[in-house]
Amino acid sequence: MRIFIDTANIEQIKEIHSWGILDGVTTNPSLIAKEGKDLRTVVEEIAELVDGPISAEAVSLDAEAMFEEGMELSSIHHNVNIKLPMSIEGLKATKALYNEGVDVNMTLVFSPQQALLAAKAGARYVSPFVGRLDDIGHTGMDVVAEILDIFDNYDFDTEVIAASIRHPLHVSQAASVGAHIATIPHSILRKMVSHPKTDEGIEAFLADWEKVKNL
Ligand code: G3P
Repeated sequence: MRIFIDTANIEQIKEIHSWGILDGVTTNPSLIAKEGKDLRTVVEEIAELVDGPISAEAVSLDAEAMFEEGMELSSIHHNVNIKLPMSIEGLKATKALYNEGVDVNMTLVFSPQQALLAAKAGARYVSPFVGRLDDIGHTGMDVVAEILDIFDNYDFDTEVIAASIRHPLHVSQAASVGAHIATIPHSILRKMVSHPKTDEGIEAFLADWEKVKNL
């Protein structure tokens, strides 16, 4: 499973990139807004750091404007893909961008039916929002698994990004069901590294070594 970071914060991206495990970056308008910079600047900064897919989200609501915005954003760097919200207009714009060779990440996907339509329209990625489904009493990861089955049945090239990841268990569950990618917030990536038994083990090994190192 490829690991993307779900953030627009350059320091967080730098840190996780330094671990050697980062394959890409996803942003959304809320994450960009937190940084207080314009989208182009943020995307340029990310592209200098990470050699992998970078999602930049269009904010227009009609297909023609989404297409124009998508073309503009994709011109920033060859690694940029365009996040479009799942909607009729989003599907139309996905097809138009696909025809121009621009990758689309169809976002705000909450059902297998939406994912099927996104794949049919030529989306390169679909992003089911696992945590937000859990929030309303569904099992978000079941939707990821069902989408994967459907794509597998018909050999779609569209890849599934498990998004709206809220805790480390979501990450291992995404990997268990075979999600191609998980996009993970910085805080959860850090939590994934830690285990109290690891810390305890390191401490015990070092304490034992101290006892004998000068023998
Ligand atoms: O970037 C989209 C998605 O990952 C948002 O997550 O936690 O705001 O539901 P969340």
